[in-house]
Amino acid sequence: MWRCPLGLLLLLLLAGLTVLEARRSRWRRDLAPGLHLRGIRDAGGRYCQERDMCCRGRADDCALPYLGVTCYCDLFCNRTVSDCCPDFWDFCLGVPPPFPPIQGCMHGGRIYPVFGTYWENCNRCTCRENGQWDCDQEPCLVDPDMINAINQGNYGWQAGNHSAFWGMTLDEGIRYRLGTIRPSSSVMNMNEIYTVLSPREVLPEAFEASEKWPNLIHEPLDQGNCAGSWAFSTAAVASDRVSIHSLGHMTPVLSPQNLLSCNTHHQQGCRGGHLDSAWWFLRHRGVVSDNCYPFFGREQDNEANPAPRCMMHSRPMGRGKRQATAHCPNGQVDANDIYQVTPVYRLGSDEKEIMKELMENGPVQALMEVHEDFFLYQRGIYSHTPVSLGRPEPYRRHGTHSVKITGWGEETLPGGRTVKYWTAANSWGPTWGERGHFRIVRGTNECDIESFVLGVWGRVGMEDMRHHH
Ligand SMILES: *[C@@H]1O[C@H](CO)[C@@H](O)[C@H](O)[C@H]1NC(C)=O
Ligand SMILES: *[C@@H]1O[C@H](CO)[C@@H](O)[C@H](O)[C@H]1NC(C)=O
Repeated sequence: MWRCPLGLLLLLLLAGLTVLEARRSRWRRDLAPGLHLRGIRDAGGRYCQERDMCCRGRADDCALPYLGVTCYCDLFCNRTVSDCCPDFWDFCLGVPPPFPPIQGCMHGGRIYPVFGTYWENCNRCTCRENGQWDCDQEPCLVDPDMINAINQGNYGWQAGNHSAFWGMTLDEGIRYRLGTIRPSSSVMNMNEIYTVLSPREVLPEAFEASEKWPNLIHEPLDQGNCAGSWAFSTAAVASDRVSIHSLGHMTPVLSPQNLLSCNTHHQQGCRGGHLDSAWWFLRHRGVVSDNCYPFFGREQDNEANPAPRCMMHSRPMGRGKRQATAHCPNGQVDANDIYQVTPVYRLGSDEKEIMKELMENGPVQALMEVHEDFFLYQRGIYSHTPVSLGRPEPYRRHGTHSVKITGWGEETLPGGRTVKYWTAANSWGPTWGERGHFRIVRGTNECDIESFVLGVWGRVGMEDMRHHH
C-alpha cells in the first residue's frame, strides 16, 4: 500500500517541477536580451501566422522556435523586451514592427549580407534584399536522395558520397569526369577478331589479372576534372600489356599526359578523345612513362585555361623503334624511353571471347556508357538503377567513358541469386569505389561495356629484354 502515496508524491513533485520549469523559463524570457535588439533577422519569416497564433496578455506557451531560440506571439512580448516573433506586430497587431529588419539572411547561426552567398552542395544560395535565400536548383553529382534510394532498393551495390564529387553538378560530372568520344560506326566495326573457342573449353569461374601477373598490373590513376578517360584507359591498358608481354622486364606506368598533350590530331585533350586515335599514336609515336611526363592534374580546360602544349615528340631510331626528342618534362627523371604497341584489335562482344583474351593476354579496354548513378558507386556489383526514372530529364544524364577490365567472377547475393560480374579499373583515383575499381554485371552488355572491347600487344624487342629490368 505504500507504493501509492509515493507515486502521488512523485506526481506532485513532477507537477511542481513543471511549474518551476515554466516559471524559470518565463524568468529567463524576462531577462533575455531582446531578440531584435539590432533589428529583425528573419524579416520575411512566417511564425505567428504559420500557426495562426496570437495571444492576449501573457501566455508563455504562445511560443515558437525561432533561429535556435524561442519567440512569442503574446502581447506581453511587446511590453517587456522584444522577444516577439518577427511577424507578431504585422500579423497580430496589424502595425509595422518597431524595429527595422536587419539587412541580410541567416544561415548556420550567422547573418549574411544582402548578396552574400554560401554553397548548398552544388548549388549557390544568394541572400536577396527581402532577407530570403535564393538557391540555384541544379541536379548535383552527389545526390543524398539518390544514395538513399539506391541503398534501400537492393540493387546489388551500395552508393555513397565520394567526397571529391561533393559540390559538383551532375552536368559537371558528365562533362569533366568522362571523356571518351563514342566511335563512329566504321570504327565500331573495325578489324574485329574472333577467338576460336572450342565448345568444350571451360573458362574459370573467377579470374583476376593481378593474381596471374603479380606486380605487372597497375593501380588506377585519377583523371581529376579532365575529361580524358580516352587517354587514361589507353595508357592503363598499354602499361599492363607492355609489362606482361615483356615478361616483367619493363613495368612502366605510361603517361596519360603524353597522350593528352601530344595526340592532338582530331583529339581534344581534356575535352575528350577517340580510342582508335589514341592507339594509333601509341603504335606510331609511342609515349613515355608517367614519371617522365606527369599528369598536370589541371582543372577542365577552357579559354582561360588552355591545354598545355606538347613538351616532347619522338623520332625514328631504326628498326621501327623511336626515341624522345626532349628531356622529360619532369626534371627529376632521366629515363625518357618511348614505349609502343602493335596494332589494336577489337574483340567480339561475346563474354567468353573477352574472358579468354583477358586471361591469355591481359587487361582489355572497354567503352562504357556512364549514367548518373555510377558516380555514387561505392561497392558491390553495379548495374544501372531506375531510381532517377521518375525525375525530370536533367537528373537522368549519361556520357561515354572508357575503363580497363581486369577480371571476372560470380557472387551469390543474399536473396540466393547468382550474379556474374566483370572487375574493372576506373580512373577516378584509389578512393572511389572498391579501391578505384568496380564490379559490373557481366554477360548482358550492361552500360554497353561489352560492345567495344579492345586488346593490344606491347611492342617488345629482344633489346628491351636486355636493357630494362
Ligand atoms: C508595443 O510596444 C511599442 C513600443 O514600446 C508601443 O509603442 C506600443 O504601444 C505597444 N503596443 C501594444 C499593443 O502594447
Ligand atoms: C559528402 O562529403 C563531403 C566532403 O567530405 C562533406 O562535406 C559532405 O557533408 C558529405 N555530404 C553528405 C550528404 O554526407
